[in-house]
Amino acid sequence: MLSFGIIIFAVNKAIDYYSFITIEKQMMEKADLSELSFREVLAQHRSSTGEPQTEEIVRLALEKLKASGKEVRIYDSSKQLLGLAVDGIIVNDGKPLIFDKNIEKALSGSYAYTVTEDHLLYFATPIQNQYYENAYVYEFVEDISYFYAIMDQIRNILFAGAGGFIVLITLSSLWIARNTTKPIKLLLGAAQSFSRQEFGRVHLNRKDELGMLADGLDSMGRQLHDYIQYQKQFVSNVSHELKTPLAAIRGFSQYLVEGENENEELQKIYAHLLQESDRLTRLINELLLLSRFDKAGSSELEVEKTEMNELIQQVAMNMEAKAKDKGIEIMFREAESGPEDKLLTKVHVNVNPMLMTHAIDNLVDNAIKYSGSPSLIELKLTHTPSEVVIQIRDQGIGIASDELERVQERFYRAKNASTANGSGLGLSICKEIVERFNGYIDMESQIGEGTTVTIVLPRA
Ligand SMILES: Nc1ncnc2c1ncn2[C@@H]1O[C@H](COP(=O)(O)OP(=O)(O)O)[C@@H](O)[C@H]1O
Ligand SMILES: [Mg+2]
Repeated sequence: MLSFGIIIFAVNKAIDYYSFITIEKQMMEKADLSELSFREVLAQHRSSTGEPQTEEIVRLALEKLKASGKEVRIYDSSKQLLGLAVDGIIVNDGKPLIFDKNIEKALSGSYAYTVTEDHLLYFATPIQNQYYENAYVYEFVEDISYFYAIMDQIRNILFAGAGGFIVLITLSSLWIARNTTKPIKLLLGAAQSFSRQEFGRVHLNRKDELGMLADGLDSMGRQLHDYIQYQKQFVSNVSHELKTPLAAIRGFSQYLVEGENENEELQKIYAHLLQESDRLTRLINELLLLSRFDKAGSSELEVEKTEMNELIQQVAMNMEAKAKDKGIEIMFREAESGPEDKLLTKVHVNVNPMLMTHAIDNLVDNAIKYSGSPSLIELKLTHTPSEVVIQIRDQGIGIASDELERVQERFYRAKNASTANGSGLGLSICKEIVERFNGYIDMESQIGEGTTVTIVLPRA
């Protein structure tokens, strides 16, 4: 805009300058012609009378030149006005406006002119006698307002064009900006949803680099999707295959444990075998649960209106023995009807109660696993008009802030988790379950201080 403004300013000045040069040239030509006529008069007069008679010369010259301008004036070498004609009529006692400087300059031998505010041009030119002295000054007045009118028109056209141009440039740059940012935003959105493992199709209806990028992203998305599907299918198949032999191993271990009464060494070994096959069975069950989630739509899950106070109470009771063994106390604060009145109330959500129990079980299990003794695990149920909030707070080892994001990924275990055994699948299962019922999990933690896991579910 700025450079365009400067260009317009320069063009405007140039138009002024060059058109003035043109008009100056025109006036000079006119002055030359008039001078010629004047000198003709001088020559004629000289040949007829010999001695020059000023009055007569002026009269003849005026007679000849009176129509060559709006006003025509003749001065002598002492700047005295000798004759005047206005609109082609000779005036004897006129008192016209005289620009002394112009007359002086003309007497020194060059053209001089002035343009007044009402667009009148006063053009003075010297007339030489036979001795080449500047004996007279011939001056004509020309109305050049037509010229200014043309200039104004040119300027108007220029400004209108410039305005139009600016509007056009603005609109087209907006258009270009929108057309380049829109596809980039689309690609960015696609990349972001890829990182959330959502692989939709990416397509841009264009053949340039952006279109190619979209195609590349699209095929990358499809490959990633296929790869992840393949991986999940593989895990699911393996888990299924392992289920039967594992059941056999577990059964035989049980049999061995119960059958061995004498050899203490062997008894220990059989007990260990049973424990490990239990652990493997749990892992396989978790993997199968996850793969069921991967395949099934939410429609397959049975959902019922569930009272959460009861459900959490049940979980707390189930886990109490395990916690006590480790010197940990579990405390449950049930939902109250409001912040003021402390009456207990019922809070319902639409979930599958078995899965929900499994999820909260898992979280309390983590709280026990990753806490030392003595310590306290608080379970708290609160509610808003639209949401139900379940909090599980422990005073355990905590999770480093850079790992907090990752612990909900499958198989991810934090660096400080090696104290307890586990598969790293528990939290990802909780997440899947909660999200199935349109809720979400939020985790806060401080290394060495403890962890708070919050489940938020829509209220039934
Ligand atoms: N209450 C907790 N306190 C500290 N760390 C936790 C807690 N809950 C989960 N974590 C961390 O998150 C990781 C993933 O948890 P989870 O998926 O349940 O796997 P697992 O318990 O089998 O290791 C754990 O390995 C542990 O590092
Ligand atoms: Mg766990």
